[in-house]
Amino acid sequence: MGLPLPVRVPVSVRSHPRGEDVASLTTRGRGEAMRLDGPLTDRYGRVHDDLRISVTDRCNLRCVYCMPEVGMTFQPPSALLSFDEIVRVATLAYSLGVRSLRLTGGEPLVRKSLVSLVARLSAVGFGDLSMTTNGMLLAPQVRALAEAGLTRVNISCDSLRPERFNAIRRRGDLATVLASMDAVERARLSPLKVNVVILHGVNDDEILDFASFARDTGRIVRFIEFMPLDAQGTWDKGQLVPGREIYERISARWPLERIDVDSSAPAERFRFSDGRGEIGLISSVSEPFCGTCNRLRLTSDGAIRNCLFSNDELSIRDLMREGAGDDELALLLRRAVWQKLPGHAINEPDFLRPARSMSMIGG
Ligand code: 5AD
Ligand code: SF4
Repeated sequence: MGLPLPVRVPVSVRSHPRGEDVASLTTRGRGEAMRLDGPLTDRYGRVHDDLRISVTDRCNLRCVYCMPEVGMTFQPPSALLSFDEIVRVATLAYSLGVRSLRLTGGEPLVRKSLVSLVARLSAVGFGDLSMTTNGMLLAPQVRALAEAGLTRVNISCDSLRPERFNAIRRRGDLATVLASMDAVERARLSPLKVNVVILHGVNDDEILDFASFARDTGRIVRFIEFMPLDAQGTWDKGQLVPGREIYERISARWPLERIDVDSSAPAERFRFSDGRGEIGLISSVSEPFCGTCNRLRLTSDGAIRNCLFSNDELSIRDLMREGAGDDELALLLRRAVWQKLPGHAINEPDFLRPARSMSMIGG
């Protein structure tokens, strides 16, 4: 039997003051006015210092939990933010206290000249500048990306068996993705994180294989619960394997110890008790971590979203294209954060899926 899983913070209004400006985070009540200075803080005291930027909604794969095989429609190029626009928003976010950036898609590397964008974002001052990629186009450019200032990479890989990899991702191949992982390490972007979406009856028989992979390679394997963000809209709870179950299955074989980390990180981290390797559990559905969420998202078409699951978003692109100044843009960022709800409601009977799916928002 495994150890009992440590209790998580439930979805709740939890204050989360951080940084130097703790004393000024006095906004707790719903009735209080939005602050116009200091870090990006919401009504519940959560400081937002992590921005995910989607650079495209397109992808060279068609993972079953994300997109249909045919018929997906994408943004026209004119709808996408230009690199100048992305850098402008990122620079502004930096001035408001954002210190972590992650580039996402779709697949970020299908956007041309990404290395130049990374260099420009790094020059803004982001010391934590990461990317989530499917690994198909990464190997040839990973060294240039690292030299441009990329500091970390997450690669998605949902099976270690070639035929099953093809069945889940429909395009691409496992060998290329594994070669990308090696290339990432040669470029010294370690430790590499490997994202695995476990689907009941599809790849849950590989949980121990992935744990073993983490032990053998030193790569941090992160098991992600399937979220209701697939473009097809076929998600149902029965398809996801709860993080707790994954924990129990792994720890029955190799005991695990919790690693205490920054409370805003979505993954619960565990090391193997014998000292070999680490895994993470991202239990977004079964044990939400909204109470400590510090993330803000910029979609490829320039919408600011305060949550993967929200139904509201504000277009910073439209404001920029109307000629707005930085003060107006900053106000939009503050409003987006201020409007953030205390938690998502996936587990409520009246939960409404967001109109946009994962690849349109950015993972
Ligand atoms: N549920 C959970 N994870 C998903 N991803 C994409 N769609 C979903 C979904 N519906 C994952 C990708 C990638 C990360 C950005 O999100 O596999 O690792
Ligand atoms: Fe592409 Fe990522 Fe969606 Fe797979 S999960 S189809 S790799 S955007």
